[in-house]
Amino acid sequence: MTEDARLYAPSAARNREPILNVLRTYLPQRGLVLEIASGSGEHVTFFAAASPAELVFQPTDLDEAARASTDAWTAELGLANIRPAIPLDAASDVWPVERADVVVCINMIHISPWDSAVGLVRGAARVLPPDGVLFLYGPYRRADVPTAPSNDEFDLDLKRRNPAWGLRDLEAVAAVAKENGFAPPVVVEMPSNNLCVIFRRTA
Ligand SMILES: C[S@@+](CC[C@H](N)C(=O)[O-])C[C@H]1O[C@@H](n2cnc3c(N)ncnc32)[C@H](O)[C@@H]1O
Repeated sequence: MTEDARLYAPSAARNREPILNVLRTYLPQRGLVLEIASGSGEHVTFFAAASPAELVFQPTDLDEAARASTDAWTAELGLANIRPAIPLDAASDVWPVERADVVVCINMIHISPWDSAVGLVRGAARVLPPDGVLFLYGPYRRADVPTAPSNDEFDLDLKRRNPAWGLRDLEAVAAVAKENGFAPPVVVEMPSNNLCVIFRRTA
C-alpha cells in the first residue's frame, strides 16, 4: 500500500466554492484550464469535478509534495479531466505548456517574490489566445480602498517569513498586465477580504 500523499488546506476547503461561483462565468465548455501553484490540489479537483468532461485541467506547482497531493486527490476522486500535475515555476520565461484557454492562480503572488507575479502575467500572455482569461484570487492592497486590519497583519506575517513576500498592490499587478496586453481587471470582492481579479487578453 502506498502512503496517502493528499494534503489538506483548510482555506481551500472554505474558499473553493465561492471561487468557483465566480470562475464558472469564465470557463468554456471545452478546452484547457492551466492552474499555476495548485498547492494541495483541492481547488483544481473541485473545479474539474464541476466541469464538463471536455474541459481539461492542467495542475502545476513548483513543489513536489504539492504535485503528489494533487495527483493523489485526482486519483481518489476518480477524475478523468485532470492531467497529472507538472512542475512549473511561474517566474520562468519558459513554461512547459504552450497554450491554454484560461489560466487560474489562487493565493500565490503574495507568497512568492514579485518576480513570480511578473512571470505569471508574462506567461499567461504567452499561452492565452486573444480574449483568454487570467483569473487570480487572493488578498491585495488597493489605492482607493483601506486595507483590512487582518490583511495588514497577514502582510507583516508574510514579510517576517520571507522579506520578498507580501500583499501586492492591485494597481501594480494591473500595470504589468497592461504592459503584457491585458485589459483593466474585473474585480470581485470575496469573503475574508479577498478578491477575484480577472484579466482578459486584448492583444
Ligand atoms: C499558499 S500556497 C497556495 C496553494 C493553492 N493555490 C491554494 O490556494 O490552496 C502557495 C503555492 O504557491 C506555490 N508557488 C510559490 N511560488 C511559486 C512559483 N514561482 N511558481 C509556481 N508555484 C509557486 C507553492 O509551492 C505553494 O504550493
